[in-house]
Amino acid sequence: MSNLDTTGQPPAAHAAVGLAVLFSAAAALGGFLFGYDTAVINGAVNAIRDRYDIGAGATGLSVSLTLLGAALGAWVAGTIADRLGRIRVMQIAAALFVVGALGSAFPFGIVDLTLWRVLGGVAVGFASVIAPAYIAEIAPAAIRGRLGSMYQLAIVLGIAVSQLVNYAISQAAGGGRGVLLGIEAWQWMLAIEAIPALLYLVMTFTIPESPRHLVRCGREDAARKVIGELEGGDAEAVGHRIEEIRTSLGAERSRVGVRALFAKSTGVSALVWVGIALAALQQFVGINVIFYYSSTLWQAVGFGEDRSLLISVVSALVNIIGTFVAIAVIDRIGRKPLLLIGSVGMAVSLATAAICFHSATVTTNEIGESVATLEGASGTVALIAANAFVFFFALSWGPVVWVLISELFPNRVRAAAVGIATASNWVANFLVSATFPSLADWNLSLTYGGYAVMAVVSIFVVTRFVTETRGRTLEQAG
Ligand code: GLC
Repeated sequence: MSNLDTTGQPPAAHAAVGLAVLFSAAAALGGFLFGYDTAVINGAVNAIRDRYDIGAGATGLSVSLTLLGAALGAWVAGTIADRLGRIRVMQIAAALFVVGALGSAFPFGIVDLTLWRVLGGVAVGFASVIAPAYIAEIAPAAIRGRLGSMYQLAIVLGIAVSQLVNYAISQAAGGGRGVLLGIEAWQWMLAIEAIPALLYLVMTFTIPESPRHLVRCGREDAARKVIGELEGGDAEAVGHRIEEIRTSLGAERSRVGVRALFAKSTGVSALVWVGIALAALQQFVGINVIFYYSSTLWQAVGFGEDRSLLISVVSALVNIIGTFVAIAVIDRIGRKPLLLIGSVGMAVSLATAAICFHSATVTTNEIGESVATLEGASGTVALIAANAFVFFFALSWGPVVWVLISELFPNRVRAAAVGIATASNWVANFLVSATFPSLADWNLSLTYGGYAVMAVVSIFVVTRFVTETRGRTLEQAG
């Protein structure tokens, strides 16, 4: 297939691009739920802790276990997607999102609340594998980066909407521990997720199965129809695409399992390791410390609760703006340069934040607690540095890693390889989220220094191991 030029397309190709955007948007709803589900807990967690009278350790665990649920979901999603199809995985995920949201909102106690959250986490894991994989499989090569970035846009919108919903509910209920129409605020926060989850479920019945999955199952007529709709070519061009897919699936058409990914004979283990490293590094720079713990972070250096909440909203907006920048340039300047720009920007801004946190003065308050304060300019610089970090992440590692993971691997191993790389993203997310509170207590400046070091490591990994994928078809991967 020749790469379509976004400016000089024939009308049929325009219609096809419109459909690809529509189908991608429906699949990207999974990303919205991913963002919403992981970030909504910020608003609810303090009320849950008080309601069930649990300690900080149990609270932290009930938050971060969700992320391990996501790792589990991501781990198995690829295999299920190959057996049952991409759409079926979306439907299972949507159903789990609904059940997880309602179950955690109306639990018997903290134990089943946590279990429902873990179940929702499994749904997040499913969605985080299937949305980018499906989008990559239906997208015409020339706009695949932009469509893939829509997934990240959906995640960041999900994060922002969850913060706004939390804020609106706590306002309406007269505080985060208030009651609205007989239901506690935190229950509303968790339950409302069922609405976008139901929408996601409905949408999955309106979009077609991925042509690459159809070819794998021998349903080539159906695949031909979908490719014709999506890529707008004549019968010959469509036939050629089917041929390409068939060849790349491998003569034996056998599914490649997780173990085979690392076998020498499969020939993709180096690529799989690159995917795992990129996915883990995306978390090791500490992005979710901002989104899961921003109020703790800013309160730790002396900003009041109100101002901390405001800063969280600002960061969510900066995150959205950065993602739009990525969408605008990803198919023009390519994945690799974008990652490098992001890495350098993140390293500088994280190091700046680390230096500012170092200058925090620690005093003891009237009840004997240590309180850190950032004086004058340091506070302002730290704020700018942290939001610059979010901006550089949002225009690079946020979207690009998800795009790359979906397009790095050859067809015959894609589902399993995407699953492994994504699971490593969730495990890394868990490690960062579970350790941040204690690390921050120990030394906030050195913690940020550590994230800055990870950003520097990421420069090395990208320069040395990442190959550009801009504009090539998925059949040329590997
Ligand atoms: C990426 C990360 C996710 C993070 C988000 C922030 O999607 O994978 O963990 O919350 O970016 O924008």
